[in-house]
Amino acid sequence: MKEERPYVTCLMMTSVDGKILGEKWGNSEKMEILRGKFEQIHEEIGIKAWIVGRTSMEKDFTDFAKPVIKDDQPPMDRNDYVGKHDDSGRFAIALDGKAKLGWAESTMQGDHVITILTEQVKDGYLAHLQDIGVSYIFAGKNEIDLTVALNKLRSLFGIEKLMLEGGARINGSFLQAGLIDELHQLLLPIADGGTETSSIFEIDLKDKTNDATLMKLKKVKQIEDDVLWLNYIF
Ligand SMILES: NC(=O)c1ccc[n+]([C@@H]2O[C@H](COP(=O)([O-])OP(=O)(O)OC[C@H]3O[C@@H](n4cnc5c(N)ncnc54)[C@H](OP(=O)(O)O)[C@@H]3O)[C@@H](O)[C@H]2O)c1
Repeated sequence: MKEERPYVTCLMMTSVDGKILGEKWGNSEKMEILRGKFEQIHEEIGIKAWIVGRTSMEKDFTDFAKPVIKDDQPPMDRNDYVGKHDDSGRFAIALDGKAKLGWAESTMQGDHVITILTEQVKDGYLAHLQDIGVSYIFAGKNEIDLTVALNKLRSLFGIEKLMLEGGARINGSFLQAGLIDELHQLLLPIADGGTETSSIFEIDLKDKTNDATLMKLKKVKQIEDDVLWLNYIF
């Protein structure tokens, strides 16, 4: 199967207790520097296609924009749509089975947008995506099948390496499905301590069928500002 899907590398930034919600860590100058480590290491790893869950995309990128639904749209086929994009290999990908994200243009921070949908979404939503040139792929009737989604990212867009960048729920789904090959964890010198804050991987108890996953430590590096960069392979 591996050769049919992209190689998946997960990058996450956490407190020492594995928490991932950076907005709970305050706004001091030091915290801003620490939060900047994520983009710095993202660039350093250099994988040009990245994927996030719907919640992370709306919170950190689309600013909770509402979906646009074109009025009076006649029924549309549930065929994948590949919008016009350059050959830089830079893609911003969202997992949004229920089409809750609002898109206004076909790029996010210069990267071509691909959204992963289920077939239940409205025709008017698809028509708007085509109007603005956002690519979409279908990966299930009502639920997203991650293996189908990954295989299509490779076959339709030539994506051989993919950076999985959270949050907890998308990471948990990839973990549960055995679809992560490598993890880069940036361990910040922060103790969070919240009991309600998310951690790196979250799988609903009712869905959790696997035991804990054992990884192999590949590299440890101390970088500036007391940050540890841990690299594991699965
Ligand atoms: N510290 C870090 O490095 C880091 C990195 C990224 C994000 N974050 C933070 O993480 C938080 C969001 O994390 P989150 O766990 O709440 O949400 P998330 O993983 O970003 O998104 C989860 C949503 O994605 C959609 N989805 C569709 N198919 C899915 C599938 N198979 N598995 C999982 N999700 C699927 C679902 O949307 P529907 O509910 O619409 O179906 C689901 O609710 C944000 O606060 C963000 O800032 C931190």
